[in-house]
Amino acid sequence: MASSSEPLPGTSDLWDAEIGDWLALEAAARRVFSAYGYGELRTPVFERTEVFVRSLGDETEVVQKEMYTFADRGGRSLTLRPEGTAGVIRAVANSGLGQGDEKRVFYMGPMFRGERPAAGRRRQFHQVGVEAVGPRDPVLDAECIAMFVQFLDEIGVSGARVQLNTRGLGEDRARVAAALREFFAPRVGEMCEDCQRRLDTNVLRMLDCKAEGCRGIVAAAPDMIDLVGDESREFFGRVCRCLDQLGVDYELAPRLVRGLDYYIHTVFEVTHSGLGAQDALAGGGRYSIVPPGATKPVDGVGFAAGMERLLMARQSLGVAVPPRAEADVYVVSLGEASVAPGLVLARDLRQAGLGLRVRAETAGRSMKAQMRTANRLGARLVLIQGESELAAGEVVCKNMASSEQVTVARAAVVAWLRENA
Ligand code: HAM
Repeated sequence: MASSSEPLPGTSDLWDAEIGDWLALEAAARRVFSAYGYGELRTPVFERTEVFVRSLGDETEVVQKEMYTFADRGGRSLTLRPEGTAGVIRAVANSGLGQGDEKRVFYMGPMFRGERPAAGRRRQFHQVGVEAVGPRDPVLDAECIAMFVQFLDEIGVSGARVQLNTRGLGEDRARVAAALREFFAPRVGEMCEDCQRRLDTNVLRMLDCKAEGCRGIVAAAPDMIDLVGDESREFFGRVCRCLDQLGVDYELAPRLVRGLDYYIHTVFEVTHSGLGAQDALAGGGRYSIVPPGATKPVDGVGFAAGMERLLMARQSLGVAVPPRAEADVYVVSLGEASVAPGLVLARDLRQAGLGLRVRAETAGRSMKAQMRTANRLGARLVLIQGESELAAGEVVCKNMASSEQVTVARAAVVAWLRENA
């Protein structure tokens, strides 16, 4: 049995050594998305359950099986956010979005889904995403996809595949569903249990069923583009043409429908072969959502990428940031009288703005014990001050890799580090 000090399955403790990679990813997201005029939005990690049920759709897998829902003290049903879009739309509607306005936001943070944990599938995961809320304009869809491709490029993730499809408008839904039902009904007996249920509840989802026995049947199903109406076909055509003009490589994926009900028109997924079975780096598309308390839908387009998966893709390509050492410099103090001067030296180094992580001896232990600590922390340099160095106003600077050491005047240590650290 797992020990009670282990994190729950599908969650993990994230230690400092890995954080460098996360920070690089977050910095790139901020840089790229703000260059396109997106501003950061941080919505709460939990919301009223209806915020998600109404937006994602009560027939979706996420709502049916995966949400962490609980009652607060007042008996209100609350849910840990399984994704970011619903909360963003609630927040944008709450802040007031005028007719014809466009609001561009990006977000990053933890999301929660009670899925069966596997490589790349977690119960607490992190998404970085964007939403362009307001106009129903195919150019925005294309620009949004192009921006994600640029982001991948900037974080060194090459080899990703963009797959694109349309779900058409809400008005097309009844006709599309009828055509698909007509196609699947005679074959449903050979399909998986989920598909047998979906025939009545969510026939669109039968198109992207991954079950072995369903694939062959699904492959012969009609393409979405042939089922949707003229307006939807025209919209999709404009998205594709704009992507072509922006030089974005994509593949048409006639069976891609995505798992959330709020989508209309464009849907896309970005996959990467470095990820294994859970190969979706990101998913997104255009949507129409009626915010809580409103009667009119709000339109938008956006995507979210799994941050753990982005990092996995980077690792598979060997571009991950190497783990950071706990300290770059360790100040060794020999003799009790040199401990306080050692702390002063460490403080001077930190204040010099060299960007170094400095640790200093506090206990006045033996040289051997302090060197062992410096090694364990991964320090590249050790600065030694014993009583004789203190008296002479000097510091011995030792390079841990080469074991070379030089004696430097105390007043010149910062300058020496600037050159040698
Ligand atoms: P989604 O496809 O459900 O879309 O999730 C987007 C990405 O989040 C996935 O491609 C994957 O990288 C990551 N992800 C999802 N579930 C897990 C999990 N259990 N463990 C690890 N990573 C996961 C959405 O969430 C939509 N809100 C995207 C969107 C934004 N559409 C329009 N705007």
